[in-house]
Amino acid sequence: MRDSVGAVFDEWSALLRVAGGRSVLPDRGDVGPLTARYAPFLRPMDRPVVLAHLAQSLDGRIALPCGQSQWISGQEDLVHTHRLRALADAVVVGAHTVERDDPQLTTRLVTGPNPLRVVLDPRRRLRPDHQVFDTAAAPTLLVGAVEAPAPDGVETLLLPATDGVLDPASIVAALGARGVRRILVEGGGITVSRFLAAGCVDRLHLVVAPVLMGHGRPALDVPLASALADCPRPPTRVEALGEDWLFDCELR
Ligand SMILES: NC(=O)c1ccc[n+]([C@@H]2O[C@H](COP(=O)([O-])OP(=O)(O)OC[C@H]3O[C@@H](n4cnc5c(N)ncnc54)[C@H](OP(=O)(O)O)[C@@H]3O)[C@@H](O)[C@H]2O)c1
Repeated sequence: MRDSVGAVFDEWSALLRVAGGRSVLPDRGDVGPLTARYAPFLRPMDRPVVLAHLAQSLDGRIALPCGQSQWISGQEDLVHTHRLRALADAVVVGAHTVERDDPQLTTRLVTGPNPLRVVLDPRRRLRPDHQVFDTAAAPTLLVGAVEAPAPDGVETLLLPATDGVLDPASIVAALGARGVRRILVEGGGITVSRFLAAGCVDRLHLVVAPVLMGHGRPALDVPLASALADCPRPPTRVEALGEDWLFDCELR
């Protein structure tokens, strides 16, 4: 199935006309469903906008204990993910996802450009033969905390780490300094949780599939509050995505 990302841009242009060219959004009810879903990611800001996406089971798992996660959600969410990649300037993933899934992180299901692929590998332990390091289709930036030779054609970025953890705000700032305006954090759970804990996520797209997985890797595992009353309840838009449900949470 192919899908034109141009339709999203058409809707966005219409939205800007409605908004008189100002960076304000009309009520969501006034615009089409694609615009409601994607406009927050496309809004012009004086800093990069970060959208995190995860597909989880009813019981909050993004992979089985063995790491298998393909596929928890259905085709509509797969297309949605590729569309987000096409709208993003950069897509960020953690080392476990590259190790387990060997993703390409390109936009094969939609028409639209491939983003810069950003791999967080603080210890630089990933083998060079993963598909994401084949830069024929798209550029790749390897972010580490130690120096090590990079696969051919792959750019590296050295950032300080505390107890092995890179500061997500520094990653966003470094990408912003390269002209990246829209960042998609595509997983896995550890990576999204760290961006969330650092207050670096503007929009969270949690896609819930009607499947129970029992044990497995958690979607989010992050200390947000110690009392239920203090737990964030972000404004959330819910829409059906095929058999699944998209929870579109506005975090900042
Ligand atoms: N359902 C979904 O939407 C979805 C999406 C993507 C992946 N997955 C699945 O999820 C599993 C992988 O997820 P995961 O949560 O285990 O791991 P992950 O987020 O893919 O990778 C975590 C690792 O990435 C590095 N990393 C990430 N953020 C970092 C930071 N701020 N600072 C330093 N290092 C950072 C660390 O590498 P080190 O360990 O070297 O320190 C960390 O342990 C796989 O099974 C994959 O199939 C599911």
